[in-house]
Amino acid sequence: MEVRQSKHAANASTAGPPRHSVHDAANGHFRAMTLYAEDPDCVKAARDMVGSYLRTWGIAYAVDDAQLITSELVGNVVHHAIPDDCLAAPGAGRRIDVWLMNWPGLLAIGVSDEDSSPPDLPGGEFISPDLAGDFVEALLPDRGRGLLIIQRLADALWWSPGLNGGGKTVWARLDLDRLWAENSA
Ligand SMILES: Nc1ncnc2c1ncn2[C@@H]1O[C@H](COP(=O)(O)OP(=O)(O)OP(=O)(O)O)[C@@H](O)[C@H]1O
Ligand SMILES: [Mg+2]
Repeated sequence: MEVRQSKHAANASTAGPPRHSVHDAANGHFRAMTLYAEDPDCVKAARDMVGSYLRTWGIAYAVDDAQLITSELVGNVVHHAIPDDCLAAPGAGRRIDVWLMNWPGLLAIGVSDEDSSPPDLPGGEFISPDLAGDFVEALLPDRGRGLLIIQRLADALWWSPGLNGGGKTVWARLDLDRLWAENSA
């Protein structure tokens, strides 16, 4: 009991501006879901979870973009992630964690896997639409579109190394004020 009281006192006396935690329902929301790449419905499960929570949180206008981003990120784990030796367990499925964080005006979607090799993030515009003329579809690659689509939909796309000595998380950020304005236009 004494320990609890002293921890509480230490937290309460922390100097500086108030910190807004995503775990505080007044400031934001946080959800995490664990899936396995071997589950045939793992992409659908992730999409459903995202749709369900965003509607509950009152940001239904972000559902379409958030679900597409989640589908591409989870699909990438299914197709590309090879677990690091230190994380691979014989016979075990490949673990995927989907993170949803919602602060006022902001939604972050993260998808973690056990492969520390980074995603091949798009560098920029490859072919000018002007140059492609009427043959835009013929010039698009068969693969490598997923992260490009996310880059177009999201306000930021990046990755971070895993905290447990392996793996990584690919993140996308949606600015909700922009999305709201676009949906209301
Ligand atoms: N989670 C991941 N783990 C390891 N490599 C990844 C991961 N996500 C993406 N990559 C790498 O980045 C590349 C680009 O991903 P992107 O989603 O843009 O294209 P793609 O998955 O190859 O094709 P598409 O999404 O069009 O079906 C992939 O080909 C892969 O090499
Ligand atoms: Mg992909």
